[in-house]
Amino acid sequence: MTTGDRLSALKAELEKHGQSHLLAHWDRLDEAQRAELLNDIEQINFAALDGLIESHIRAEQPFKLPKEIKPAPFYPAKPDIELVGQYADAVKRGVSLIRQNKVAAFTVAGGQGTRLGFDGPKGAFPISPVRNKTLFQLFAEQIRGTNRRYGSDLRWYIMTSPQNDAATRAFFAENNYFGFAPGHVCFFTQGVMPAFSPEGKILLESPSRIAFSPDGHGGALLALKRSGALAEMAVAGVEYISYWQVDNPLVKCIDPLFIGLHDLTRSEMSSKTIPKVDDLERVGNFVIGDGRMQVIEYSDLPDELAHERDELGRRKFDAGSIAIHVLSRSFIERITADEANFGLPWHRAIKKVPHVDEQGRRIEPDKPNAIKLEAFIFDAIPMAKNPLILQTVRSEEFSPVKNATGVDSAETSRRDMNRRVAAWLTAAGFDVPMTPEGEPDGLFEISPLLALDAGHLREVMLTAPTIHRGQAHYWE
Ligand code: UD1
Repeated sequence: MTTGDRLSALKAELEKHGQSHLLAHWDRLDEAQRAELLNDIEQINFAALDGLIESHIRAEQPFKLPKEIKPAPFYPAKPDIELVGQYADAVKRGVSLIRQNKVAAFTVAGGQGTRLGFDGPKGAFPISPVRNKTLFQLFAEQIRGTNRRYGSDLRWYIMTSPQNDAATRAFFAENNYFGFAPGHVCFFTQGVMPAFSPEGKILLESPSRIAFSPDGHGGALLALKRSGALAEMAVAGVEYISYWQVDNPLVKCIDPLFIGLHDLTRSEMSSKTIPKVDDLERVGNFVIGDGRMQVIEYSDLPDELAHERDELGRRKFDAGSIAIHVLSRSFIERITADEANFGLPWHRAIKKVPHVDEQGRRIEPDKPNAIKLEAFIFDAIPMAKNPLILQTVRSEEFSPVKNATGVDSAETSRRDMNRRVAAWLTAAGFDVPMTPEGEPDGLFEISPLLALDAGHLREVMLTAPTIHRGQAHYWE
């Protein structure tokens, strides 16, 4: 089709759906810009968007709270006497699945990381206390450390977005793929959604580009399928996908207990939880809503429920989501088989989106002006058979880097990485100097290629390390 043919077909389509303003600057665009704009517009399924604009953009579509909400049951971090045997079996099973390469690692890294204010893919953010390793390097070493420990050869999938795909791939190339064999780190790109004005008009980020942004980590499910990653996993014999967010350097990328429990209980989607630090902590809440396990995001959980106490005075909704999951490949295949009828709910967020108006003026908003829609991976939990939740310990597995300062910042995350190494050394029987305030006195870092957890450290560090108060120490 010539540009002219494509243009007249689109003109009619845009008119029908009230989006003709997208061509407002056409006459001033050069050939390359026109091609760019046509490509952007052709990506959009306008018919499908109409209903969504009515229900989620022009109207505020309040969150539908389930009628009956109960706390979700979970497997405790420390097994009680009845569970000790099951946990031991699960670890054995998990290790066996890892040894057979039936597990793939999966990081969602398509987000824009605006809160952190870091210029580049978030995974390229340097974070470790001594060596300043990046998030991606820490994950890479953990997966390679797991391979060393169990003699496996696990693959690592990374979901990027069109906004950061090239930069992410370039970062890995510059770092020689952190020692992974060719083809064992696999990238694929998630889908996008346009940003809208409150009236439902799609925004242009420049006269020739639509203001697209990533469609949320829920986009991972279709992206895994459409990119061919799922099919590739099937050929490679991968059954389980170990999922985590790029922002959490403490994550246990591949956890034999978690994977084993998922398998032994025939769960299709499993999740990790921790007790919340306070009623309103900004994490999702695991609940049973109208009989189904699900996550209610902190922003959707009414304050009365967040503050509710049980008969023993404990926080009733205390199971926070740390966005770590195991998903069965067959589960994603099952729910995405009929693509036309698959969809996770859309969540609306009001954000600042710079754009050009119909007169071609650049608008740099100083307050939120636009609506974005995102899908969340945890909304797949109610579709899963036997969904399972495993509790874990915050200081061992969760300290995300989300904000430039304050809570969940680089500073708190580095502090928690340091504390974790000190705790592992102490558990292995070594003395760690402490400050009068009770913090480890010095900087401590252990390469995941040496040890993956406290128990592992005890096996590999047989003699006491020399530690000098206030100094930086690194073990590999
Ligand atoms: C998220 C969870 C919250 C959980 C918390 C734990 C949501 C809506 N909330 O909060 O329930 O308790 O983490 O830390 O997810 N991403 C993509 N593509 C996208 C959007 C995000 O890959 O389109 C990735 C990001 O790169 C990041 C992760 O998803 O790794 C988290 O996204 P973010 O929007 O920052 O979630 P939070 O609000 O921090």
